[in-house]
Amino acid sequence: MASFYNVFSLRVRGMTNLVKFLRKFNAFAYRSTGTDAAVAQAETVGRDTRDGKDGRKSLPTLLVERQEQAEKSVLISCQSKANEKKFLKYLSRHGDIKKYFFYETYGMYAVVEFASQDSVASLLDTAAVPSVSHESMVPFKSRLLSLRNPSLVDLSNQQSGLQCQPQTTIPINELIQRLSKDESVDRQITSLTEFYQLTEENIRLRFLVCSLLKDIAAAYFPECTIKPFGSSVNGFGKLGCDLDMFLDLDSISGWNPKSGLFLEYQMKRANSERAVTQSILSVIGECMDHFGPGCVGVQKILNARCPLVRFSHQPSGFQCDLTANNRVAMKSTELLYMYGELDPRVRSLVFTVRCWARTHGVTSSIPGAWITNFSLTVMVLFFLQKRSPPIIPTLDHLQDLAGPTDKCIIEGNNCTFVSDFSKVQIPSNKETLEQLLCEFFEFYATFPFSRMSINIRKGKEQNKPEVAPLHIQNPFETSLNISKNVNTTQLDHFIALCQESSWLFNHRETVTLRGVGGDNTATPWGLATLLLPSQVAGIKRHKKRRREPASERIKGLLESLKNKNQGKKS
Ligand code: GTP
Ligand code: MG
Repeated sequence: MASFYNVFSLRVRGMTNLVKFLRKFNAFAYRSTGTDAAVAQAETVGRDTRDGKDGRKSLPTLLVERQEQAEKSVLISCQSKANEKKFLKYLSRHGDIKKYFFYETYGMYAVVEFASQDSVASLLDTAAVPSVSHESMVPFKSRLLSLRNPSLVDLSNQQSGLQCQPQTTIPINELIQRLSKDESVDRQITSLTEFYQLTEENIRLRFLVCSLLKDIAAAYFPECTIKPFGSSVNGFGKLGCDLDMFLDLDSISGWNPKSGLFLEYQMKRANSERAVTQSILSVIGECMDHFGPGCVGVQKILNARCPLVRFSHQPSGFQCDLTANNRVAMKSTELLYMYGELDPRVRSLVFTVRCWARTHGVTSSIPGAWITNFSLTVMVLFFLQKRSPPIIPTLDHLQDLAGPTDKCIIEGNNCTFVSDFSKVQIPSNKETLEQLLCEFFEFYATFPFSRMSINIRKGKEQNKPEVAPLHIQNPFETSLNISKNVNTTQLDHFIALCQESSWLFNHRETVTLRGVGGDNTATPWGLATLLLPSQVAGIKRHKKRRREPASERIKGLLESLKNKNQGKKS
């Protein structure tokens, strides 16, 4: 079993109620082996750790590696004026440090990965429970620590000497400026992807948070794992995206009925699998709420189609959704990851379309009748399957290529598809990112949404089985529509924006580099123009304004851009 255990201070009133609880935790307490620390040969984290022969690893392989890294890591709140060298020397008394980095949210934090798990135990053995006179302390140990040691502070340095890794994206105006300085639309699309995608450090932090939360859940389920899914790991995550997690109890050993020796279970008042999931999430949610270090605003949303516990993890700044028994979502994450790995244009296009959609209010962080990022990603995949020749294969084709070990049936749904990337042969399609983006807008500006459904299993539109405005077949639970929530207004908004962007893209003014002015500000062009406030959206907000033909509105927009540019030159 993974060893852990730490000191985090729990401030609760009424210590007596917790004695039983603590005994339970102590049963899993880690015993230090007391390593002699070698001098740290630490490296800061590089951007890319892919080391597979062809640079590609399957998602399950990657998850295992990341989880192992996370188990050997600690999260330390530190003083902003800490001296980096002294800080590392202090920690390396417990063992070699493999990687580390600093970041800032509500204070300065360090993520430190030791070469050995023993070092984590050694470090935790020296950690003390803080004394606060007015509150009771629960000495529950976690790998979230606080290092306040005056001897590690650099008094000569007025400013923080620690180099912090960004954990959020650049603001949209800055993005527009930076893109406007790129020399081609293809470069703009690649730049946007680079600015927005999760960094190596942010991915490590996500896995570490899962690992820290697993330590808490393990009080109830000692061999459980908490795995990230969704955009944190599917390759389409943007800095700042939520952290979707899944409590995996299937990896627990004890599934060998031949032994004749069975664990005793009592399924109290649980008459369905859903009810069991709700009970599990209910107790884990309670636990996070009362004892989870850094977990704030815990809400148990147990009556949702997919029950979940939602909370903020303050030290990382992540908005977290914890689910259980959600293996289909894990499979769709794996599928999206695979599509992203098959051709680099897939990720770039998804990032660009997601950014464009968010800027124009097509998607939102608030649940509602909006198109979700997941639906939008499936729409991009479908569009890429429809190219001639296709850029990515259909899900049916990936299923045909699957070997016996790939077979996967979840709750009666066939979730089988090939896991070996090298078996997937893709015909050569040489379209540029610029062409693809332009074609994407044209494709959906004219798609027969009223009659047809989007289906990435077949790679062909199908007749709509129900009357929802937008129908996108769930790739694995094929009777479900993943965009059931979308209403006509939102779909119309999306179509109007596609029409506008398609028009803009076909206009010479938009796709011509405008140059940089004397004050080093660049006039928006190309992709940057598509991220400017939309005329379509503007008109919708001012209902009283008469609706002009789309071409007139766009012409007006282009004129205003042209005038602005001329104003700068004169
Ligand atoms: P962002 O969080 O918006 O960056 O994207 P995301 O892909 O993580 O989406 P979200 O957090 O909404 O959902 C997480 C994952 O759950 C998705 O990647 C899908 O794998 C899965 N998922 C989301 N919505 C649906 C849905 O309607 N049906 C199914 N089957 N799975 C979904
Ligand atoms: Mg998500």
